[in-house]
Amino acid sequence: MNDDAVALLMCPHCGADLESDGTQVLCDRGHTFDVARQGYVSLLSGSGGKIVGDSTEMVAAREQFLDGGYYDRLMDAVADACVDTRTVLDIGAGTGHYLARALDRAGATSVGIGLDVSKAAARRAARAHPRITSVVADVWNHVPVRTESVDVVLSVFSPRNAAEIHRVLTPGGRLVVLTPTDRHLVELVDDLGLVRVDENKTRRLGDTLAGRFEREQRTAVTYPISLGHDEVAAVVGMGPSARHVSADDLRTRVEAMPTPREVTVSVTVGVYARAAATSTAAE
Ligand SMILES: C[S@@+](CC[C@H](N)C(=O)[O-])C[C@H]1O[C@@H](n2cnc3c(N)ncnc32)[C@H](O)[C@@H]1O
Ligand SMILES: [Zn+2]
Repeated sequence: MNDDAVALLMCPHCGADLESDGTQVLCDRGHTFDVARQGYVSLLSGSGGKIVGDSTEMVAAREQFLDGGYYDRLMDAVADACVDTRTVLDIGAGTGHYLARALDRAGATSVGIGLDVSKAAARRAARAHPRITSVVADVWNHVPVRTESVDVVLSVFSPRNAAEIHRVLTPGGRLVVLTPTDRHLVELVDDLGLVRVDENKTRRLGDTLAGRFEREQRTAVTYPISLGHDEVAAVVGMGPSARHVSADDLRTRVEAMPTPREVTVSVTVGVYARAAATSTAAE
């Protein structure tokens, strides 16, 4: 656990500041949280456990695919928005690949918190970069991060809680959101009968951020990648379709595809400034 990053966290039970003694994270009112052998801490609060997050298999598939370099341009686009920042919070951090790239770009004194509800993801993010502190929490319940404490929040293919993101950002802080367009991986969607990106997603994103954030920049990133069977299996296995199709069924469908298969990567990267005042009209 990085002390500078732990200093950004807050106790999920009482809201007090937290510190780490190496094996535990604790608040001064006596609440303690064990640091897992694999280097992450769980700050789940309340009823926890309703939202499961990505499985071990999905995280392994994500790691395999991201290590292949196919999304490096997406990581660079996100990292570009983190130059000269000190503190970065990645909500739904997954394997930590994007946060690691962002910290490399942010500079040697930067620290990052990778937050994910999945323990499998938290385990992987904990070893993605020496300056990542990996935390298990449910973003829909509570983000255990101090108010007005982080410079940049990342949301990459992940759920967003606009009210909590606004609360934890410093005045002047920024939110970086990467969302897929309806062209993203469309060839695989068609070939394999996968879950489609909701066409209203971009509009809904604008709706949920309205009143709390002002868009500064929006960049479309679109390029082709060429995939073999293993990469197709990995990119499908790390996504929502993995929950709807059995592994055997998927493997059969993937093996039947002619490869290499050219596939479109198509996302939007939005950079939003935190608005000073909040209007809750868009809740
Ligand atoms: C599609 S993955 C994206 C992971 C990573 N940002 C990336 O692009 O490689 C979404 C991530 O959000 C996490 N997640 C889902 N619901 C969550 C919640 N309620 N709170 C925190 N994380 C959540 C999942 O476990 C998963 O790791
Ligand atoms: Zn406490």
